[in-house]
Amino acid sequence: MPSSFSFGAGGGRGANEAGGGYQNLISSKMEEFTGTSDATTNACALALCASVVGLVALKLSRKTMTMMILQTERAEQERGGGRNPKTTLKELKCPTVSDEKVVITFYYGTQTGTAERYANTLVEDAQKRYGLKQIFARAVDCEDVKPDMCEEVLSSEKCAVFLQSTYGDGDPTDGSADFCRWLEETATDGRMPDMLEDMHFCTFGLGNRSYEHFNAAAKLVDKAISGLGGKKMMKITLGDDDKSLEEDFEEFKEALWRQLEKTFQLKAEGEEGDFDVEKHSYAIRKEEDAEKVNELTKIRERKSFEMSRGSEIPTQAKPYACPIKSRKELHAGKSDRSCVHVEFDVSQCKGLTYEIGDHLGVFAENAPDVVDRVCKLLKVSKQTPMELVRRDDAPKSLLLVFPGPISVGIAVARYADVLSMPRKTAIKALASFATNKKEAKELDLLAVDKAKYHAYVADPHRSLLEVMEKFPSAVPTLGAFFGCIAGRLQPRYYSISSSPKDVNNGSGIVTATVAVVKHKTKTGRVHEGVCSTFLQNVREGDRVPVFVRKATFKLPKDANAPVILIGPGTGYAPFRGFLQEREYLLKSKKQELGECMLFFGCRKEEHDYIYRDEMENALSEKVITSLDVAFSRDDPKKKVYVQDKIQMKAKDVYKILRSPNGAVYVCGDAKHMSRDVNRALLQVLQREGEYAIHEAEEIIRRLVVDKRYMKDVW
Ligand SMILES: Cc1cc2nc3c(=O)[nH]c(=O)nc-3n(C[C@H](O)[C@H](O)[C@H](O)COP(=O)(O)OP(=O)(O)OC[C@H]3O[C@@H](n4cnc5c(N)ncnc54)[C@H](O)[C@@H]3O)c2cc1C
Ligand SMILES: Cc1cc2nc3c(=O)[nH]c(=O)nc-3n(C[C@H](O)[C@H](O)[C@H](O)COP(=O)(O)O)c2cc1C
Repeated sequence: MPSSFSFGAGGGRGANEAGGGYQNLISSKMEEFTGTSDATTNACALALCASVVGLVALKLSRKTMTMMILQTERAEQERGGGRNPKTTLKELKCPTVSDEKVVITFYYGTQTGTAERYANTLVEDAQKRYGLKQIFARAVDCEDVKPDMCEEVLSSEKCAVFLQSTYGDGDPTDGSADFCRWLEETATDGRMPDMLEDMHFCTFGLGNRSYEHFNAAAKLVDKAISGLGGKKMMKITLGDDDKSLEEDFEEFKEALWRQLEKTFQLKAEGEEGDFDVEKHSYAIRKEEDAEKVNELTKIRERKSFEMSRGSEIPTQAKPYACPIKSRKELHAGKSDRSCVHVEFDVSQCKGLTYEIGDHLGVFAENAPDVVDRVCKLLKVSKQTPMELVRRDDAPKSLLLVFPGPISVGIAVARYADVLSMPRKTAIKALASFATNKKEAKELDLLAVDKAKYHAYVADPHRSLLEVMEKFPSAVPTLGAFFGCIAGRLQPRYYSISSSPKDVNNGSGIVTATVAVVKHKTKTGRVHEGVCSTFLQNVREGDRVPVFVRKATFKLPKDANAPVILIGPGTGYAPFRGFLQEREYLLKSKKQELGECMLFFGCRKEEHDYIYRDEMENALSEKVITSLDVAFSRDDPKKKVYVQDKIQMKAKDVYKILRSPNGAVYVCGDAKHMSRDVNRALLQVLQREGEYAIHEAEEIIRRLVVDKRYMKDVW
C-alpha cells in the first residue's frame, strides 16, 4: 500500500477534512491560513509551514526520531499485502517429511490477491481438519517458481492443488505467466509425459464467465499437468466471479476434502470449526501522542516525494506520490455520464518511465462520506491514532500491516475496501461482535447459509458498508476490522493515454482517460466507483500514488507496417498515445508511416465523442489514414457500433489483415465489444477472402500467435 498520499497544495477531492487524508487537512489549513484557494499561494505557504515543521521536529530527541524512522521503514517493508517470496530451489521443493505425513502444496497464480487468499485459507483449514500429524500444508506463489526450477519443484510433489486466476484476454496473471508458459511448452513438446507421475493434483480456476476466454489459464494449467503425467484427483472447478466465486470456492473445498480422504486415506480429525476472529485480528498499538503521529505521517510522505530525486523505480509496493498537473471533463455538458482526462506530472520522478501501451496503477482513497460512515459504525473518531501490529502467531492469510502510526480516518480512506461485497468470514467475524441477539443470529445465518448469502449479499451486490449499516450493533475492534472484515483497497489500472514522445509534452506527463463509474444497484444504492470518482475530483497539485505496469501492447517496430486500431469509449486511451508516437515519427523523425485505420465509437456525437479534435487533426495531418466513428444512440432506430463500421470498411480491413506485416489492436470492453469485433473480423475474412469459418479462425489464431492481433481489454 502507498507509503504516502495526496499532499496537494490546492486541496483535493472533498477538500473538507472528512478522512480524505492528509492532503485534505493540509489544503484546507492552507486555505484557512492564506485566505485563498489559489494553488500557488498555498504551495508557498505550505513550503513555509514545512520549514516550521522541520524546526519542531528538531525539538524531538535524535534517538526518538531515529526510532520513529526505523519503525516507519519497517512498516513500509511490511506494506499491507506484501509478499514474502520463497526464492531458493530448496525452499520451493517439496519438503521431506515422515512417511505417514502427506505434503499438500497449494500453488497459486493471482493478479489481485484472491487466489493467494484462497491458498492460505486452504492451508489453514487443511491443518485444522487433518492435524499436523497427518499432513504438512503449504502455499506457493507460482511467480516464485522460475522456469529453470519448474521441473525439479513440481516433480518433487505428491499432492498439489492449483489455484489459477485468468487475466487480460484469457491470459495467466502477470506473476504466473512464466510458470504457465513453461508448463504449456513442456507439456506440448511431449518429451516428458511421465514427469509428474508421482503427483496427484486438481485445479480450481478463478475466472469470470462474461469474458470470452473463461478460465483459460486454469484450463491451461490443468491440461498441462495432466499432459505431464499428473494424476487428476477430480475434474477442474471453474470458479465464476460473475456469480459468486466465494460459493464456488466453498464447494470446491468440500469436494477437495473428500478426494484427499479417498486418495491419501486422510481422516478428518476435526471440522475447520468456527472462524477464529481473534487469530485473524491485528493487535493495536495505541498511540496517544497525535502530534507524533502527524510527524511520522509527514516523514513517510516526504520519503515518497523524495523518490523523485533518485532513480528508484516506483512499484505497487512503493508507489510515487505523483502531483496532478490537470484534470478535465471530456464529455459535453449534455451527457449524463462523465469521463475525465487526468494529467500526472512525472517530470520530477526519474525512475518512472513508460512506453505507449503501458498501464498506470493508481491508488485511490475512499470518498470522505464513506470514511465518515465507516468511522461512525466503528464508533471511533477519525483523528484517533493507531498502529496495526501483526501478532507472532498470525495466520498467513492475515495481510502484512500497513505503515503506522496513522489516524483511523486516513487508514480507512486509504486501505479499507468497504464498497465490495463482504466475504462470508467477514460476516462471521461481524456476527461475533453483535450485541443485539437478533442481529447476531441473522449475521451467523448469512455466513453459513448459502442461499441466504446469495440472496442478501451476492445477488444484489451488497457492499460491506451496507451490511454493517444494516447490523449496527456489530461494532468490530479496529484490529478485527482491518484484519478480517474489510479487504485491502487495491490499485486500479488505466491504459496510459499519452506517449513519452509527445511532441507537445515530452516524457514529463502521463495521462489517463477515466470513465467515471456510477450506477444504481439492485438495492437502489448508487455505486460510485472508488478510483474513478476519486480521479474525477482530483485537483491540480494533489498527490496521488502511482506506478507503471509494463505491457506488450505496442505499435509494430516498423512504422511502415499497416495497422488497424479499434477502441470505442475509453478504449481509445492507448491509441491516443499511439497517435502521438506516430506524429513524433512523422514530424521529428521524418519517417514514412504505414496505413493506419482508426475505429472509434461512442453513444452520441454531441455527448461523448471524446478527443474529437485530436482525432480529426490526426487525420488531416496524415498521422492516421482513416477515421470511422460509430454512434450507437444517435439514431433511435439503428444502433451502430465499431464492429458495424469494420464491416462497412471490409475491403480495406481485409487488405491489412492479409498483408504480411499488418497488425490489429483492440482496446476497451472485454465482455461484449472485443467478442463482437472478433466476430466482425472473421466475417470480413470469410466474405472478402472467401475463406471457410475454420480457415478464418486459423488466420486469426496465427495473427494472435505472431502478436499481430493484440488486445488491451478489461
Ligand atoms: C489493464 C486495465 C486497463 C484499464 N484501462 C482503463 C482505462 O483506460 N480507462 C478506464 O476508465 N478504465 C480502465 N480500466 C478499468 C479501471 O481499472 C477500473 O476498473 C475502473 O475505473 C473502475 O474502478 P472504480 O474503482 O472506479 O470502480 P469500482 O468501485 O471498482 O467498481 C467497478 C465495478 O465493480 C462493480 N462493483 C464493485 N463494487 C460494487 C458494489 N458494492 N455494488 C455494485 N457494484 C459493484 C460494478 O460493476 C462497478 O461497475 C482498466 C482496467 C484494466 C484491468
Ligand atoms: C482486467 C480483467 C481481465 C480479466 N480477464 C478474464 C478472462 O479473460 N477470463 C476469465 O475467465 N476471467 C477474467 N477475469 C476475471 C478474474 O479472473 C477474476 O476476477 C478472478 O477472481 C481474479 O482473481 P485474482 O484476484 O486471484 O487475480 C478478468 C478480470 C479483470 C479485472
